[in-house]
Amino acid sequence: MIYITRKEHFNAAHKLFNPAWSEEKNNSVFGKCANKNWHGHNYELFVTVKGEINPDTGFVVNLKDLSTLIRKDVTEVLDHKNLNVDIKDMPIMPSTENVAIFIWDILAPKIKEMGATLHVIKLQETDSNYVEYFGE
Ligand code: NI
Repeated sequence: MIYITRKEHFNAAHKLFNPAWSEEKNNSVFGKCANKNWHGHNYELFVTVKGEINPDTGFVVNLKDLSTLIRKDVTEVLDHKNLNVDIKDMPIMPSTENVAIFIWDILAPKIKEMGATLHVIKLQETDSNYVEYFGE
């Protein structure tokens, strides 16, 4: 079993704001992230897949195909969008955690079709913060 990672990038806007709460509570829990008029992040997305090496190619998966899949189904969908309002099926709270799970759910079945297994989605929102989702 060997693991390989493809890194891709997108920019998106969001806010963290729970409509069931007062503005005061939102500001106290989410701070600047609750800013009404949104804010943006430069997201770095790391997609790690695992599998056995194909003896004909030496690859677990063709990285060009993996990159095409990630770009077509994830980064081109999310790039320069407002995650709260533009993205169908995005959870109401587009935290890094929820966005990572959203990406996992899109990619896991398609990576299976490529003959590999999705191992982890790592989504880096800032230099200081990232989330890793292993599917459970
Ligand atoms: Ni944010």
